[in-house]
Amino acid sequence: MDIREVDDPQDGDLDAWHSLVSAVHLHDHPGDPAPDPGQTIGRFSGGGARRLWTVPHGDGFGAVASVWLPGDPAVRAAEIDIHVLPALRRRGIGLTLLRRAADAARRDGRSSALAQALAGTPAVPFLERYGFRCLLTTRSLVLRPGDVDPSAQAALNPEGYRLIRWTGPVPDHLAVVFAQAKSAMADHDEGDSAWNADVVRETADAVAKRGDDLYTVAALHGSVIAGFTEIVVPGDVPERAFQYDTAVVPEHRGRRIGLWVKAAMLEWIKDERPEVVEIETDNSHDNVHMLAVNEALGYQPLREFREYLASVADLP
Ligand SMILES: CC(C)(COP(=O)(O)OP(=O)(O)OC[C@H]1O[C@@H](n2cnc3c(N)ncnc32)[C@H](O)[C@@H]1OP(=O)(O)O)[C@@H](O)C(=O)NCCC(=O)NCCS
Repeated sequence: MDIREVDDPQDGDLDAWHSLVSAVHLHDHPGDPAPDPGQTIGRFSGGGARRLWTVPHGDGFGAVASVWLPGDPAVRAAEIDIHVLPALRRRGIGLTLLRRAADAARRDGRSSALAQALAGTPAVPFLERYGFRCLLTTRSLVLRPGDVDPSAQAALNPEGYRLIRWTGPVPDHLAVVFAQAKSAMADHDEGDSAWNADVVRETADAVAKRGDDLYTVAALHGSVIAGFTEIVVPGDVPERAFQYDTAVVPEHRGRRIGLWVKAAMLEWIKDERPEVVEIETDNSHDNVHMLAVNEALGYQPLREFREYLASVADLP
């Protein structure tokens, strides 16, 4: 097997690397939007050393591997990433590349290594065979607005609350109370929160700069925002929208406000953006109650990401 270490990747290497990662993605995550080149190439920038290996195949690569060696070797884990073309799997290429990566991590003085896998793909038996154990799973859920009727839930209207909504940055007169509601997401009692009116506006401006549309529905109680939910519809692929933050302020919980605002949002998106085919949410951003709300609205499990850790001494 011809394995080449790449010290200083040129544009052609990065293009071939991206083509391989895209082909693997298409095979292992069917139906998912392909990664964009910025995402693939972004992995080569940022702090810390990287070692890269490629296996030439035809005009491009049949397999690639990287190990990222960030920060202090005594405290930070190495991060290993290996991709093998579907047609070249089960020939020992993955194992050979894992040996190179593990060796580089050991030589750098690392004691542990991280890797990621999508549940249900060959990466799971591969990593588990060689000493990785699953640390964390993140479940994504998806809802198809065309398949659900949220009208009954959108009509819940808990007494004493009314709905408001806006697109883009929060209107100025609500910026302070919205920042207070955002702080409720942290769910901690330390008092200080990273959210204030300026940060809320800057976050919304960043979404607009990317060319995406931000929708917010909030439940108002007097002049206080008791709960809210946000959806972002990407400018380039509006078919798949993403759930952003949802929170209900602690003293307003238990009144089905979370379900109400999310159902009202769904009605709005169905009406305003009929091109949205799917809305995706990630449960690392949601708590247990929000998962129950998501299920009540009709969200279905989409995929599960697993984060793996190994002691490099156990790796081949
Ligand atoms: C995971 C991956 C890198 C494995 O590459 P590969 O070249 O097929 O791996 P190998 O041939 O070296 O397999 C070594 C062993 O892993 C295990 N394994 C690999 N694929 C497996 C599968 N589909 N089912 C069960 N076991 C599997 C087997 O024990 C295999 O040994 P065997 O073939 O003698 O039974 C490849 O499937 C891939 O590119 N996946 C997508 C990218 C990814 O998710 N990478 C994350 C891991 S860093």
